[in-house]
Amino acid sequence: MSRNRLNEKTFQTLKQKMAEGLLPQWVVTDPEIYELELEEIFGHTWQFLAHESELKEPGSYVTRWMVNDPVLLVKTNSGELKAFLNSCTHRGSHLCTADAGNRKTFTCAYHGWSYNLEGDLIGIVAGDKVYGQEMKKDEWSLRRIPKIGIYQGMIFGNLDPKAMPLEEYLGDMKWYFDMLLGRSDGGMEVRGVPQRWVAHANWKMTSENFAADPYHVQTTHRSTVELGISPKDPLYAGYGHQVVLGHGHGINVITSATGRSAYRFQGLPESMWPMFERNLCPEQVDILSRTTVFVGGVFPNLSFVSPIHGTEGHLHNYLNFRVWRPLGPEKVEVWCWFMIDKAAPEEYKEEAYKGYIGSFGPSGTLEQDDTEIWARIVQASRGIMARDKELSYNNLCNYLMGFDRVEPDNTFPGPGIAYPTCYLDALSRSMHEYWLELLTRDLSGAE
Ligand code: FES
Ligand SMILES: [Fe+2]
Repeated sequence: MSRNRLNEKTFQTLKQKMAEGLLPQWVVTDPEIYELELEEIFGHTWQFLAHESELKEPGSYVTRWMVNDPVLLVKTNSGELKAFLNSCTHRGSHLCTADAGNRKTFTCAYHGWSYNLEGDLIGIVAGDKVYGQEMKKDEWSLRRIPKIGIYQGMIFGNLDPKAMPLEEYLGDMKWYFDMLLGRSDGGMEVRGVPQRWVAHANWKMTSENFAADPYHVQTTHRSTVELGISPKDPLYAGYGHQVVLGHGHGINVITSATGRSAYRFQGLPESMWPMFERNLCPEQVDILSRTTVFVGGVFPNLSFVSPIHGTEGHLHNYLNFRVWRPLGPEKVEVWCWFMIDKAAPEEYKEEAYKGYIGSFGPSGTLEQDDTEIWARIVQASRGIMARDKELSYNNLCNYLMGFDRVEPDNTFPGPGIAYPTCYLDALSRSMHEYWLELLTRDLSGAE
């Protein structure tokens, strides 16, 4: 297959350039790399499916995608969560096409086979008459997604039955998830439905933009500076720490120039603060209390941002999780969840939701800024110069910020390798390294 052309030499060059802090531009949207990514990355890594609060009652279900595999995630009568390939076992038709709902059974629109919440085939139209007694229904249950894992209410799936456990994969990210998702009693809840839209972008660039790139904020989102929402200081999104967490995960813990935020606990109501102190360890309380924005990602395609948003008199915190579902090398479907502390006052939740809608989501100002830039990246990657694998046009992207220059800060209280600035390409480089490691895993001689 594609590897005939993406040969060992190509990967050796990639590896060498990446070691120099450079990324060949052709890998961004190369169709052969994309095919490999689907198999070697998305076929083996943990992908976010839903938050537990989206499936409240027995019979609740949501339909999701693991790139091209349709997934039906259901809460069974015993309260267990099960994930199936959302495809009828008769002829493979896409079984349930609604986004979410509550049902006792799922019936296929093609020939009417039906399944219960456990995925068992329970009804065949004219069963005995056309298939006879010998048809063994229990051999035709829905196919299970090989693995599902839950951490702090976040439900992930994995298509590789031999994948490492979710907790091991998340590693030190768990500590930060505990801080963001487990800080208040009852955890977080999804409000509304995940918004979805399609952007002309490559999934690597969107993941990297969110997880690892506070440097773009003061230019791409310049309008927020002009409107007086963001400070004029061009370093304003760079204060704090960029934390590299392994397996391509990481988080930026953005403070103000003083190392603190003007808004303790991101401006969340004071009535909630004792809860944070009860649920978190002192180091987590310290970080949470003085951070302005958390922004990061779980490799390959889950990102999150927890900002303080709004203009004066309207400053609210929320948590936005998003999946970049690749639809091709130049297209992503964005899935965007708004989350808020279940224990927050109702009025606060409502206001925070408004803050989110104004900033992110298809109508959000920040979102539109980014979308335009992502489209420009794919636009410029189609030409002969950008696509040249020999790199004869010096078609390399620059990831040299802080390269060999910024040392980790060992006094940072959280786990991971914490660098004392967020204007840094350390996390992007770490994402690319893990990306290459997965792509070349079974390529003999690529090491
Ligand atoms: S494909 Fe579903 S019943 Fe035939
Ligand atoms: Fe942005």
